[in-house]
Amino acid sequence: SNFINYWYIWLNKISPEMRTLFINIKELIQVENTPKKMISGNEMKSLPTLKNAFLLIEDDVIQNFGEMKNLKNLVTDSTIDVCGKMILPAWCDSHTHIVFAGNREQEFIDRINGLTYEEIAKNGGGILNSAKKLQNTSEEELYNQSAKRIVEIMKLGTGAVEIKSGYGLNLEAELKMLRVIKKLNENFPVTIKATFLGAHALPSEYINNKEAFINHVVNNMLPEVTKENLAEFIDVFCETGYFSVEDTKKLLEAGKKYGLVPKIHVNQFTAIDGVELGVEYKALSVDHLELMRDEDIESLKGSRTMPVALPSCSFYLSIPYTPARKIIDAGLPLALATDYNPGSTPSGNMNFVISTACIKMKMTPEEAINAATINGAYAMGLENILGSICKGKKANFIITKEIPSYGFIPYSFGNPQIDEVFIEGKKI
Ligand code: NIG
Ligand code: FE
Repeated sequence: SNFINYWYIWLNKISPEMRTLFINIKELIQVENTPKKMISGNEMKSLPTLKNAFLLIEDDVIQNFGEMKNLKNLVTDSTIDVCGKMILPAWCDSHTHIVFAGNREQEFIDRINGLTYEEIAKNGGGILNSAKKLQNTSEEELYNQSAKRIVEIMKLGTGAVEIKSGYGLNLEAELKMLRVIKKLNENFPVTIKATFLGAHALPSEYINNKEAFINHVVNNMLPEVTKENLAEFIDVFCETGYFSVEDTKKLLEAGKKYGLVPKIHVNQFTAIDGVELGVEYKALSVDHLELMRDEDIESLKGSRTMPVALPSCSFYLSIPYTPARKIIDAGLPLALATDYNPGSTPSGNMNFVISTACIKMKMTPEEAINAATINGAYAMGLENILGSICKGKKANFIITKEIPSYGFIPYSFGNPQIDEVFIEGKKI
């Protein structure tokens, strides 16, 4: 970890106040003149690009971009000829549980041998298994393990990420998780948003007293978490056997009093009116949505709540994929995220996510890239500073390998077509 910290401090020092010009970009993808908040419905089918382009950044900010033929003589500190490669905004991964201790490889084997995710959870595995590990791991060790994952996702092109608590299941361990998230945000260039997921599962001490646990989250955890300013969002695992719609309502209501905006886990295994509740509480996003009834789609119409699909979770657990076509064809927006966590998605690869979205959810490459950039930024409240190539936004972008078209990125699944990643204007 110290190595990782020094590495970033060093990165910071070598490039003070720099104007860098990237030239001969074969295609500059997701360009905007006026920043949009999100992209919905049919508009998701188009992806604005400029062919044969340049991009100028100053320190960590995008200064200008345009076609090579319009490039005036500019004074810059360095010029990088990208020689026909493409540039697109870094991925915005709006749903992860990256801070966790150890792994759940044994459950992977158990599932190969026929147990389901739900059965494993019922036998004390699942989230409770991760919570036990996390409670017994020091803050420093938890930071070290998580920092490695941050480096891993940056190299895979992620420039902004939301991270949830929820493997603490008690006050002390939840605070430990959230402090680690805060420290990661301070030490790495990737933009990190923190979510308090106090109600992720019922700890065994409360097995016959769910109400007491919810009261504990509301009366003890929430005040401490917000006192230290450790989270901006509140999440609940709204699911049969976890927290009901009524429980979720109580938790969101309490979160609202402390100024936390909801982003909730809903409709993963069962559809129980959590989507409608999320909309009612002005959730920034409702995530998972593997099961979507017509009434769930209806309730999202006209709202500002972003539906978020997590296809690598569906892939890993062999559960249904979020019906992206139904959602987008109803005129709604959609964001894509990884759900990186030790149980249902031990992978933070957004490149795999967009491939899987195209292959399994029938999204076009344009829709998938919109969903993984600007719409992902919206689902973290970051659309004003991230998610597109736009003057004034942060210089977070991917330089691709030499590829024939941007559609090649999802097409060549399993092979990230990434040559270099820049986050806050610095090469990773
Ligand atoms: O998003 N569904 C709830 N939470 C996580 C998985 C948690 C776990 O298995 O550790 C998810 O899939
Ligand atoms: Fe999740």
